[in-house]
Amino acid sequence: MDVFEAVQERRSIRVYQDTPVPREKLEKILEAARLAPSARNIEPWHFIAVTDNEKRKILSKGRFAKFLAEAPVVIVACGDKEASPDWYAIDVALAVENMVLTATSEGLSTCCVGSFEEKEVKETVKVPDNFEVLLLLAVGYAGEKLDLSSKLLHLMRSRKTLSEVASEETFGQHLVPQKVTEP
Ligand SMILES: Cc1cc2nc3c(=O)[nH]c(=O)nc-3n(C[C@H](O)[C@H](O)[C@H](O)COP(=O)(O)O)c2cc1C
Repeated sequence: MDVFEAVQERRSIRVYQDTPVPREKLEKILEAARLAPSARNIEPWHFIAVTDNEKRKILSKGRFAKFLAEAPVVIVACGDKEASPDWYAIDVALAVENMVLTATSEGLSTCCVGSFEEKEVKETVKVPDNFEVLLLLAVGYAGEKLDLSSKLLHLMRSRKTLSEVASEETFGQHLVPQKVTEP
């Protein structure tokens, strides 16, 4: 699968099988995060792979995060606020997308989750004060390709078109695609 195929294939998945994520795949996903670009190459990040049932239960307490208790792995993505105050969030986001696409290319599914109480997450996985928890990433084998809530989300919020989101030369000079892409 090439990168663009992974981009097209990826969907947020909220139903997972019990099947564990093989160790080599998990390490490859984390390696993809390690290799992401970062401002001034500061690499202001840390990623915690959580498989423990009790810990995942606590991580799943957010209103839109219940499925984290079922996903075999939850990766807690943290940014070092002190090491790179201006860029840590962007750097971590780029690293998370590297993980998402690598997981997809390995036949795994993911879902980014911003629904969590940071203090509780920090206590649960012992994140130091200078780090902020930015995102939780569910990783595992999809239970159903599109579960009900994903279907609803897709119905409610279909993708904007390329000309809606992209301009040429100046903002608002909407790009007219020469090649039609899938939504
Ligand atoms: C920063 C961020 C936070 C998100 N938080 C949640 C969340 O808390 N719960 C959830 O179910 N999905 C969450 N999502 C997934 C989005 O709902 C999903 O990406 C969006 O609906 C588009 O669907 P797709 O990823 O399948 O294309 C989050 C995505 C991002 C990028």
